[in-house]
Amino acid sequence: MSATVLAVLAKLFRDVSRGCRVHSPLTHTLLTSAADDLDAGGVTQRMMAGSELDRAGTVPGLRFAAALHRLVLEGKAPALAGHYPGVGGTPRLATLWSDVHPVLCEHEDELRSLIRGTTVQTNEPGRTAPLYGGLLVAAERAARAAGRAQPFPVRLLEVGASGGLNLRPHLVGYQLSNGTVLGDPGSPLRFDPEWTGLPAADLTAPLVLHDRAACDVRPVDVTSEQGRLHLSSFVWADQLDRWNRLRAAIDLAVRDPVPVERATGADWLARRLAQPRPEVLTVVWHSVIWQYVSAVERARGRAVLAAAAARATADSPLALLVFEPRGGRFDLLLRLWPAGVSLHLGGGSGHGIPFTWDEQPWS
Ligand SMILES: C[S@@+](CC[C@H](N)C(=O)[O-])C[C@H]1O[C@@H](n2cnc3c(N)ncnc32)[C@H](O)[C@@H]1O
Repeated sequence: MSATVLAVLAKLFRDVSRGCRVHSPLTHTLLTSAADDLDAGGVTQRMMAGSELDRAGTVPGLRFAAALHRLVLEGKAPALAGHYPGVGGTPRLATLWSDVHPVLCEHEDELRSLIRGTTVQTNEPGRTAPLYGGLLVAAERAARAAGRAQPFPVRLLEVGASGGLNLRPHLVGYQLSNGTVLGDPGSPLRFDPEWTGLPAADLTAPLVLHDRAACDVRPVDVTSEQGRLHLSSFVWADQLDRWNRLRAAIDLAVRDPVPVERATGADWLARRLAQPRPEVLTVVWHSVIWQYVSAVERARGRAVLAAAAARATADSPLALLVFEPRGGRFDLLLRLWPAGVSLHLGGGSGHGIPFTWDEQPWS
């Protein structure tokens, strides 16, 4: 690896590491140490061979952290497990790298092929909270534009759903800090979405999902041990709240299965959107996928959506609801056709919690 390539890679690791500093000291320390090791031409360089020219958007640092986490979860790195809370450990940051280093040397080939062979598949159930609020707003505004008294039922189409853990926004309990519980108070998946402000919609109206469908280029089967292991490996290892949320969301997904079709987003959407659905609001939703999608695929996706938007009618409306990074924060954006509504609904952490509702026009 040339010095320039190594320097770029080390910078990518440090960029991710900065983002984890406050909420995941373990991941922060791991990636900072790995970046230093890259600078020094250490074992991390051999680990990243074959991935060194990957686009920044593929987040090589997160793939490195996930591969190591996976080894720990599989019981293949007992000396390191003591740092990982998900398997009963307590992080000891001062000695983390000295315990990581022998694992990298011992499992070099396996780690390298894991890092090369994976894309980031953080399927974060916390993103269900902005989705829930966004759907309530969308269903209400589309109804208002159509002159209807009641919000539309929703057909939810998720692109890049990974294991499909965000396909049950109506089955989650959202425990607000004032004690109110929105959604399903009896749900096994209940969490505080840490909202500042509220969605500008009638929160007493139920969210009615007419039907749900999803696709991913690499769908994850959450009913399999391998699928669960894969998704678990992408949770930052010292974030026990996310760890517990993931487990509860997987249990809910097993009880309420929704298939995630293997397909690229644009092809799949073209098929799904071909037939308008009367009396239903069709919502195309995606969260934290855009950086992984190629420029060609993005252009195709936009064209498919534009064609469907042109066919939308007041009784068969279409919405685009996205939760994606923009300039250092994650924003929830909504467009509605034919109503011509275009809104920035709010923004927050990349994991969907905490979140601030702050509705403004989006141009
Ligand atoms: C970081 S994960 C986010 C998963 C989920 N949307 C969430 O927010 O929890 C990104 C997902 O996008 C998928 N993906 C990337 N490019 C895609 C494409 N062109 N079409 C469909 N899925 C894609 C990946 O396989 C991965 O599962």
